[in-house]
Amino acid sequence: MTHAHITTWVVAIILFFVANSLFKSGKEKPFKIVHMVLRLFYVLIIVTGIIIASDIYKFSGEYIGKIILGILTIGMMEMVLGKLKKGQPTKVFWIIFFVVLILTILLGLRLPMGFWLFR
Ligand code: HEM
Repeated sequence: MTHAHITTWVVAIILFFVANSLFKSGKEKPFKIVHMVLRLFYVLIIVTGIIIASDIYKFSGEYIGKIILGILTIGMMEMVLGKLKKGQPTKVFWIIFFVVLILTILLGLRLPMGFWLFR
């Protein structure tokens, strides 16, 4: 299941970048479609995350941190695209996006299920 979780967030991040460049090149309709599919992937990330979390027998603070960071990462993608649509500055949200994304991945890989790269 961690593979399904990884697949969903990798696809979501790709869709996020695609949506960005579609908007920047003025392709409104394709942007809307990609944004909609991206939102579906947010749900899939959360569902796979919850399925993995339901297997945990000992919940630690790190898990709570991982889940909060994961949700924040999704939130930042939505903020960037939302601000972009409104013509408002996105820089701050890009920075927060990259920071929380890296932290989410590092913490995810540190936690005991699936790949176990850092401990
Ligand atoms: C874009 C957002 C997210 C990213 C980039 C991300 C990334 C990751 C990574 C890299 C892992 C480690 C996988 C492995 O070792 O095989 C992981 C595991 C996990 N993720 Fe996420 N995740 C995200 C969102 C979420 C959300 C929203 C939830 C909860 C609803 C969640 C819950 C979990 C859980 C419970 C694990 C298992 C941790 C373990 O014991 O190894 N993730 N995630």
